[in-house]
Amino acid sequence: MISIHFKLLMTIQLRVYVPPHPLIKHWLGVARDVSTPSPLFKSAMTELGRWLTYETIRDWLPTEEMMIQSPLAACPATMINPEVPLVVVPILRAGLALLEGAQTLLPLASIYHLGLVRNEETLEPSCYLNKLPNQFQPNTHVLITDPMLATGGSMMLAMAELVKRGVDPALTRIISVVAAPPALQKLSSSYPSLTIYTAMIDEIVNDQGYIVPGLGDAGDRSFGT
Ligand code: URA
Repeated sequence: MISIHFKLLMTIQLRVYVPPHPLIKHWLGVARDVSTPSPLFKSAMTELGRWLTYETIRDWLPTEEMMIQSPLAACPATMINPEVPLVVVPILRAGLALLEGAQTLLPLASIYHLGLVRNEETLEPSCYLNKLPNQFQPNTHVLITDPMLATGGSMMLAMAELVKRGVDPALTRIISVVAAPPALQKLSSSYPSLTIYTAMIDEIVNDQGYIVPGLGDAGDRSFGT
């Protein structure tokens, strides 16, 4: 039987990866479990942020070849290129929960916060905090953190704000915990060169804009509200 994920992935252009890592699967299970208390949920999100970032930056983090001197001899080394600007954009609130894990792997990245909120009735997003610079440097590598890609409205708004400021979608990666087809299809049609890493693709978005089975309200569960 052809899986529904396979059929979905055949219809979209952007690249979506679901890394088959046991730690990602484990922490996703912890996050999904309704009996997980808020502090443990927050830890699960930190771990998911760490391991999804680890997978994401594998072929994205800019490196340079150089010669270094070991105590015994000169030898070649592959090092992170400090000249290439690295940026993390957490989508508040819930994206903050993934940021801590991402930052442990990208300590030199600049963090630009973007606060977006969904109208509970129309599900339309609006921006209440925008700390993005007016213009990003060319070649800036951007990692966006947002745990839930449901209808895709918030991420479309975030992408529009970034692209307006010179960000190249081909150098942009998103980490999410659960992604749903409406968001993937919307993002794919506007930003086909984008790459997404997610712990899971769930099929259903309900009338309230929640992913099913999903993990509930990621912001509320992360911050105990
Ligand atoms: N935001 C959430 O926190 N959860 C969902 O399921 C969808 C959007």
